[in-house]
Formats: sequence, C-alpha cells, structure tokens
Amino acid sequence: MIDAPEPILSAHGIHKSFGRTVALRGAALELRPGECVAITGPSGSGKSTLLHCLAGVLLPDSGVVTFRGARLDGLGVDERTRLRRISFGLVLQFGQLVPELTALENVALPLLLEGRRRPDAAAVAAQWLERLEVGQLATTRPTAMSGGEAQRVAIARALVTSPDIVFADEPTGALDTVTGELALDVLVKATRETEAALVLVTHDNRVAAVADREVVLRDGAVEPGPGDPA
Ligand SMILES: Nc1ncnc2c1ncn2[C@@H]1O[C@H](COP(=O)(O)OP(=O)(O)OP(=O)(O)O)[C@@H](O)[C@H]1O
Ligand SMILES: [Mg+2]
Repeated sequence: MIDAPEPILSAHGIHKSFGRTVALRGAALELRPGECVAITGPSGSGKSTLLHCLAGVLLPDSGVVTFRGARLDGLGVDERTRLRRISFGLVLQFGQLVPELTALENVALPLLLEGRRRPDAAAVAAQWLERLEVGQLATTRPTAMSGGEAQRVAIARALVTSPDIVFADEPTGALDTVTGELALDVLVKATRETEAALVLVTHDNRVAAVADREVVLRDGAVEPGPGDPA
C-alpha cells in the first residue's frame, strides 16, 4: 500500500458552543496537500463553525487543530493572524471586505500587509479581479456592489497570496449559475496550479461534485462515510 502524504491540516474532537447552542460535538477532519474537500450538511449542522475553527478564526472549546504539525491554539494572536493572512485564504459566508476600500485595495491589502510594493500589489490584485470577471469594479467600494460581485472580489482576495489552503464558505451562494461556475472554476484551477488544498462548504451539489471527497456534517459531527468502520 502506498502511504498517503501527511495531512497539512488536521482537526480532532472539535467541540464548540455558543451559549447553550452546541454547534460542534466532536467534529474531525484531515486535509492533505492539494486535496479538495467539500463539507456539506443541513443548515445549522455546524459547517461554518467548523470552517472557522479549521481556519483559526474561532478557537474551539475543546479539541485540537494543527497546521503543518503546529497546534493553532499554541500560536499567539499575531502568529495566528499572520497564518490566516499568508498561508490561509478565506472566503467567508458573510461580508468580509473592508467597506472603506475599493475592490482593488481590498484584494491588494494582504500583499501590502506583507510588505509588497504598492504598484506591484495593485498589478497582482488587478489580475485576480480580471480572472474573476470583476475587473470593472476595481475602483468600486463594497457597498456599491451586488452580493455576487462582492463574493467574487472576496474570492480574488483569498487567492491573491497563493495560500497553502483556501477555505470557502458557500462561495457560489450569492451567484447565478454562470458566475457560480466561473467562481468555482477559478477556485479549483487556482488551487491546482499552486497545489493548494481547498475546503468548500456548500449546499450546492455541483460544487460538491468537483471535490475529491465529501464530508457530511450532521448535528455538529461528521457522518461516517460508506468506507468507514461502523
Ligand atoms: N456566533 C454565533 N452565536 C450564536 N449561535 C451561533 C453562532 N454561530 C453559529 N451559531 C449556531 O450554531 C449552529 C451551527 O451554525 P453554523 O453557522 O455553523 O451552521 P451551518 O451548517 O454553517 O448553517 P448554514 O448552512 O445555514 O450556513 C446553529 O445552531 C447556529 O445558530
Ligand atoms: Mg454556514
């Protein structure tokens, strides 16, 4: 048997509650380099919460998430922020663009924060906006964009640093069929080009179908797959 490569990210025994609402009860997931995993499941099953825990946006109440062998809860706030900025690309379900900045500035921001020169960062950002077919919005602020336009700008921003892992929460949720396919296509191709892993939270069967594997959440835990021991 050929050994599978070491996971780049792994999560075990993840519990997370919000007050009395238990969002995750023992969720687990392993992600290998270059792999595309779809997380599906009913509304309220904990998909977004799991994604946020995997990406270090939320710290779980218990359980461990490791990236390249290092526990996320062992990192300082600054280290975790830097990890999210450089190694992780995030497309969140609800507004994450900076309202005061234009589309181009929003997409260039992660590069500027890493010390890239302004003209250089702007040129790279413009290419990503073009690739997502929102180049015409370069000087537009998020408040003047449709939900689907903002979503594509957010995807451009998640990809601009060529991260090791892209986490996308319903990346096609606000998009019509054609732009949804474009956004999905760009996400899949861009991550393949850099051999990045891609985690897609989705309700959409077409999105799940492009993934190498599907993980189904129910009531805050992963349902056993057909190949898993009972
Ligand atoms: N910040 C929060 N405060 C309180 N409760 C929350 C919070 N975030 C999530 N929850 C609750 O945790 C549970 C899981 O929510 P989560 O957003 O992870 O579900 P989901 O699977 O992403 O759902 P959807 O498909 O509707 O996006 C739900 O009961 C939700 O109401
Ligand atoms: Mg959600």
